[in-house]
Amino acid sequence: MKEYIAVFDSGVGGISVLRHLCAVMPQERFLYFGDSANAPYGTRPTEEIRALTLAAAEKLMARGLKALVVACNTATAAAIEALRERYPDSIIIGIEPALKTACDRFPGKKIGVMATPATLREEKFARLLERCGRQCQVVKLPAAGLVELVEAGKANSEESFALLEPLLKPYAGELSAVVLGCTHYPFAAPTVSRLLGENTLLLDGGEGTALHTRRRLEAAGLLRTEGEGEIIFENSLDCGETVALCRRLLMEAKP
Ligand code: DGL
Repeated sequence: MKEYIAVFDSGVGGISVLRHLCAVMPQERFLYFGDSANAPYGTRPTEEIRALTLAAAEKLMARGLKALVVACNTATAAAIEALRERYPDSIIIGIEPALKTACDRFPGKKIGVMATPATLREEKFARLLERCGRQCQVVKLPAAGLVELVEAGKANSEESFALLEPLLKPYAGELSAVVLGCTHYPFAAPTVSRLLGENTLLLDGGEGTALHTRRRLEAAGLLRTEGEGEIIFENSLDCGETVALCRRLLMEAKP
């Protein structure tokens, strides 16, 4: 598998990053692995998230892949340092909430960050807030429960609307932008917009992560620039249904 880039998430959310990876590196070969059997990660204690991430990475890295993209904000927040320590010679990219993009674009304004409870409580997020969020008023919006609905193929349903209504409705018309700081959430963007109003810009870190991955591969002389691209889907649930959902989300998400 030396030709493949592994893309990892706690479940199907990382597909929102995979679509950008495919768009900026159309000739690459990707192995998408979702740990849906253990999702959600974002309501678990940090130690558990780290252990699950390291266990998944160990299996992926043993296959000799050329890079690992952690397409999960929660896993990045809890485990990226441990991963880099364990695999110092590998290219390991992690996604984080696109707060800098939002704050650079709307200085002095009110910005929401929707993410899992784990991402928002981590030290890594506190550092990001300190670094980029100072000039803005940042509101944390932990959306526990949304990941489960995306995993069930119900990202935009009456259930997701009912779940998000009490969290988002109080901010309707008030936020210049909302950072979707969990890779599952872009799939629920229509519901988020329905609640916040069309004037709130929704941003996620997918494209930035894809461009960064491309730069790292280029710099290492590892970027594949000819031949057909390919995607292999694998999931810890090991059922055709989850892989079918991954394929459907990828089609839906095409930029
Ligand atoms: N998709 C993951 C993220 O970006 C979180 C999903 C979960 O809670 O398992 O944070």
